[in-house]
This record gives sequence, C-alpha cells and structure tokens, in this order.
Amino acid sequence: MAGVKILAIESSCDETAAAVVEDGRKVLSNIISSQIDIHTLYGGVVPEIASRKHTERICNVVSEALNAASISLEDVDAVAVTYGPGLVGALLVGVSYAKGLAYAASKPLIGVHHIEGHICANLIDHPELEPPFLSLVVSGGHTTLVRVEDYNKMEVLGITRDDAAGEAFDKVARAIGLGYPGGPKIDKISDEGDPDAVAFPRAKVGDSVYDFSFSGLKSAVLNYLNQCRMSNVEINTADVAASFQKAAVDILCERVDLALDELGDKTFALAGGVAANKHLRAGLEEVCKKHGVKFYCPLPVYCTDNAAMIGAAAYYEYISGVRHGLDLNAMPSLRLGERI
Ligand code: KG4
Ligand code: ZN
Repeated sequence: MAGVKILAIESSCDETAAAVVEDGRKVLSNIISSQIDIHTLYGGVVPEIASRKHTERICNVVSEALNAASISLEDVDAVAVTYGPGLVGALLVGVSYAKGLAYAASKPLIGVHHIEGHICANLIDHPELEPPFLSLVVSGGHTTLVRVEDYNKMEVLGITRDDAAGEAFDKVARAIGLGYPGGPKIDKISDEGDPDAVAFPRAKVGDSVYDFSFSGLKSAVLNYLNQCRMSNVEINTADVAASFQKAAVDILCERVDLALDELGDKTFALAGGVAANKHLRAGLEEVCKKHGVKFYCPLPVYCTDNAAMIGAAAYYEYISGVRHGLDLNAMPSLRLGERI
C-alpha cells in the first residue's frame, strides 16, 4: 500500500502535537506546541494545566499540520492518536479530538501506543530499517528494553523498577538548581564538568538481568549534595552533572551490551526523549560498534514527544488492518503489546 497519508495527534504529556506522515517514513508536516515554559514555573508537569493547554491549542496545531502538509482532512487516509500510556486528562484531549475528526470526515481511526511511537521514530528517514531489531526506549516516563519482532509485535525484555532514566535526569537537575526539564541542561553543563569527579553507584537489579534501577543513583546524588552542604564543601555543579550522567549512561550501555551479547541482534535503535542525549548516543554507538551492530537513532526533534512518530507507527497498524471504534478511550497505563 503506497501513498498512505495519516494525520497523527499526540497529547500524552506536555506537548500538543500533530503531523502528517506518508507511508510511515516520510514526514509531510510536524507541528509541536510545547508547554515547557508554563510547567517550568512549577518545576514539573502539572497534569490539570497540561489538559487545559491541550484543549486550548489542539485545533490550531491540527490545522497547522494539515496546512503545512498542503493537504485537507478529506484527503488523509486515516486519523491516528496516542491513546496510552500517559496522563489521562492529557490523553483524553487528543483521543476525543481525533474521534471527532474521524467521525466528521468518515475516516478510519487508529489508536497508537506511545512507546511504539517512540520506537517507530527510527523509521522516519531510514527506509532500510526493518524489524527484527533491539530497541531501548528512554524517556521521562519509561526505560524499556524491547525486542521489536515485527512492526506490530514487540516483546518487553526489561523495564525500570523505579524511576525512569529521564525522571532521574530531571530530579538531579532540580537538586543542583538547573530547573526543568533537566535532561538537556545536564547534557549541556556536563561538557564543562569532570565525569570522574564523583564516583556514583551503578545499581544492578539482581534477579532480572535486563531490568533497570535509577532511584539508588538519584539518592546517591542527593546524599552527596547534602553531605557537601553540611560540611560546607563547595559543590561543582558541572562535575556533579557530568558524574551523574556518566553513571546513568553506563547503566543503560551495560544492559544493551549484555542483550546484544546474548540475543545476537544485528540492528539496534535508540528512542525516547533521553535519546537526544549526546553522551548516551556516543556510548551506545560504541557498544554497537563493538558487536558489529548497526546503530540507529532518530533526529533529536523525533526523540522527544512528537506526532510524526505516532504517524509512523500508525501506518503499520493501518496496513495490518487495525481500526478503532468511537468507543476508543484514553488508557493511562496501557502496556506495550496490549491491544484493545
Ligand atoms: O520522550 P519524552 O519527550 O517524554 C516522555 O514520553 O516522557 O522525554 C522527556 C524526557 C525528559 O525527562 C527530559 O529531561 C529528557 O527526556 N531529555 C533528555 C535530553 N533531552 C530530553 N535527557 C538527557 N539528555 C537530553 N539531551
Ligand atoms: Zn514520550
């Protein structure tokens, strides 16, 4: 099936986004209205504010996406929307709007799993990338090692037992006074710091080799900061950021190294907001090189939340016949691989 154009909507957290994607790989438009400036005032995402802002912005964002792609709603083949996981109130805005559009224009409706979207961001502009491959999704809400068996078939190998990687970046950034969102700020300030200045622990999860844990690392950073403050030792913010980042990157690289060793995949794709981190990209590229594995990573704009990735994932749902009814609901805890 060629020339399939999907209008996709994403509103699971604090980005109101819409995109038009052709055949899952070609982005015709990608509009993102970020709410970061508002949530920064509160040091993190406030769910009620996120929902209200999505409601205010979604009409314009969708119109802009259609205009930028020079296409009318009548000419799209389907309407796709993220229906989980995420903040329930935020998801509901996108789901309700997509249902309204699909009904009004008599178009098929396709609900997309947010994490599947993050993984499919790798398909954009990479026509040669095809399953099977190993993928690591690292975002503000998820840290998941996934085996992508086929476009619609994903097996979860490991998850975080506590904080997500991005959450750890955000919490540490807040503790050292960098503000929200912390990931990009830690990434930047680390360039001026010594990654070996402080030896932070790299936690292992005993009984499950592919699971992750970041709360121990986060607590170690907080303890270190408290100790410094109590004994009047000056804190070098760049050193702490660089040392934390090195430990976090090591934890992620170690699991991927092990999985590539044991599973023998020849292709690896990084995904999610933290995939924008240049040190993580470099570390994983190195691991892949060691195993003779081809490394993929989306452009930074497709790493953090966007609707183009939802349009990419929706195409493969569309061609395999997946259609949702107008009873589609927001599923805040939707598991990967779960279908409704
Ligand atoms: O995928 P995403 O936009 O939203 C979720 O689905 O969670 O990821 C947002 C997360 C935030 O925690 C943010 O701090 C982190 O991605 N992030 C980064 C970088 N850019 C965004 N973390 C580390 N380094 C970056 N350059
Ligand atoms: Zn996300």
